[in-house]
Amino acid sequence: MSTTGTVLASTPTQRLLGKVALVTGGASGIGESIVRLFHIHGAKICIADVQDNLGKQVCQSLGDEANVVFVHCDVTVEDDVSHAVDFTVGKFGTLHIIVNNAGISGSPCSDIRNADLSEFDKVFSVNTKGVFHGMKHAARIMIPKKKGSIISLCSVASAIGGLGPHAYTGSKYAVLGLTKNVAAELGKHAIRVNCVSPYGVATGLALAHLPEDERTDDALVSFRDFTGRMANLQGVELTTHDVANAVLFLASDDAKYISGENLMVDGGFTSANHSLQVFR
Ligand SMILES: NC(=O)c1ccc[n+]([C@@H]2O[C@H](COP(=O)([O-])OP(=O)(O)OC[C@H]3O[C@@H](n4cnc5c(N)ncnc54)[C@H](O)[C@@H]3O)[C@@H](O)[C@H]2O)c1
Repeated sequence: MSTTGTVLASTPTQRLLGKVALVTGGASGIGESIVRLFHIHGAKICIADVQDNLGKQVCQSLGDEANVVFVHCDVTVEDDVSHAVDFTVGKFGTLHIIVNNAGISGSPCSDIRNADLSEFDKVFSVNTKGVFHGMKHAARIMIPKKKGSIISLCSVASAIGGLGPHAYTGSKYAVLGLTKNVAAELGKHAIRVNCVSPYGVATGLALAHLPEDERTDDALVSFRDFTGRMANLQGVELTTHDVANAVLFLASDDAKYISGENLMVDGGFTSANHSLQVFR
């Protein structure tokens, strides 16, 4: 068989046809875009989120109850994640892909002496322990099948300091560490483990640090202006769809030999430092 023939055969229009995926935090933001893109690409999807109404609305809006379902799941609770995995397998027969996307930013704190350790625990609980729960329970299904793709949402804050609160940055470096370590364990079972690290995207998370009455459209516009000005790639705005495309790539057979990677979706932000103004 020619190599070219293999490549052509592995790029169907629907890149996830026949695949079953579980997406945590799939009720809004980046997770919702991942759900919608996976659906276009033929996957059967279970959305796992704490926002029941929003999650159910995403399912209804897709109008495909047979292939897109919702389950309530708080990723900080191991039993919830275990149940979400079993629920997905119960509905669709197996699990090929898990996207550990649920995450929170935590409150900003510019002075470490005032750091609130309960806030620190909360951020690690969702962003790191939540991801590990997903990895553990997905592996439970994937190991006997000898295949699977585990993808976690990381961040540019997993590559350099100074981009977010300490707990957020620490939790995302930990996601990267877990990704590499779990990839090392699960390689022998042909299970791929990767993460995706976006630059700032205008979602609820981007405004979560503001009081509720300040989370307005104007605040989103300010966030987009700011991230646009600070970006390396100028004149191109990062959207949730762009992040979903990177996740789709890692989920699909197009990435069949990629594991242990942190795919940066940051337009070069973490590889270029413009503070010396050499090119600006
Ligand atoms: N938006 C950005 O700028 C950005 C940048 C880099 C990385 N990320 C990462 O991308 C991921 C998604 O972020 P987003 O911007 O879409 O955020 P978002 O706030 O828009 O959506 C997060 C989703 O996760 C859900 N969620 C929160 N806590 C949960 C829990 N305990 N259990 C289950 N679900 C829970 C929320 O209900 C929500 O639907 C996060 O891991 C985030 O850290 C976001």
